[in-house]
Amino acid sequence: MVPELKNSTVHIREPERVREIISSLRDGGASKLQVITDFDMTLTRFACNGKRSPTCHNIIDDSKLVSEECRRKLKDLLNTYYPIEIDPSRSIEEKLPLMIEWWTKAHELLVGQRIQKNKLAETVRESNAVLRDGYKDFFHKLYQCRIPVFIFSAGVGDILMEIIKQVEVYSSNITVVSNFMDFDENGVLKGFKGELIHIYNKREAALRNAEHFQNLENYSNVFLLGDSLGDLNMADGVQNQENILKIGFLNDKVDELLDKYLASYDIVLVKDETLDVVNGILEHILQTVSSSRNCLDD
Ligand code: TMP
Ligand code: MG
Repeated sequence: MVPELKNSTVHIREPERVREIISSLRDGGASKLQVITDFDMTLTRFACNGKRSPTCHNIIDDSKLVSEECRRKLKDLLNTYYPIEIDPSRSIEEKLPLMIEWWTKAHELLVGQRIQKNKLAETVRESNAVLRDGYKDFFHKLYQCRIPVFIFSAGVGDILMEIIKQVEVYSSNITVVSNFMDFDENGVLKGFKGELIHIYNKREAALRNAEHFQNLENYSNVFLLGDSLGDLNMADGVQNQENILKIGFLNDKVDELLDKYLASYDIVLVKDETLDVVNGILEHILQTVSSSRNCLDD
């Protein structure tokens, strides 16, 4: 039913169940569907031309916004904590305090750099940020069919917003929940707003956004995209949830993590730098006559 599901990157533990979920999402149509997605390494690429693509944090770490000494310290943190983030032999419970440590130390270092708000746009323009191939069709289709999109990121909200604005895909159907920078009256970074979001507290962060999901109570079908096992909780705030399709990008430590991903995500995309499968499924779900009534013309 979706030709892209035959791609070699696609791994599914229960194909029949996936078929049923996709068919329920199609029956529900555009008026019931909401998309909840992670950002770093889910909407952005993991690697490009053999080189790792940057996360929101990395964009700042690699820029002129921070001193050489600070860059070195941030890289040391990355080299210490990223292997822990993806370590298949450690449980989430074991990783959790270490992830909080990583985010806290990194944010403290950034706040010490007196980063200026008016330099962020230029920093993103000069960065190597890349969204996955097919991102234009993805965002366009969701906007056209008025599907609410909740981008839920433990990255840096200001950088994320700047990326999607610069590639001209930001639109009124998108809500971003992330770590947003807090600036003083001179536009200098003084901290981060609200509670910290790290990769393993997305459940709590989702529940804090109860009002957002209350406003979407008729959107009972969820299309979830993530790359970490922590992303599986992103839909925990959804009210009246009927059907959920969970698609996970597995980018790193594939042999060690594939079984875990297959046990949690309905569809696992292994080393797939595109949104082709995602777009193929969305196209199929939104192809019906009842859905097209929700959608604007091109
Ligand atoms: P996400 O929720 O949008 O995927 O963002 C979280 C990613 O950010 C996670 O994979 C780890 C990464 N990260 C960095 O690259 N550098 C940092 O300093 C921190 C704290 C996180
Ligand atoms: Mg991610």
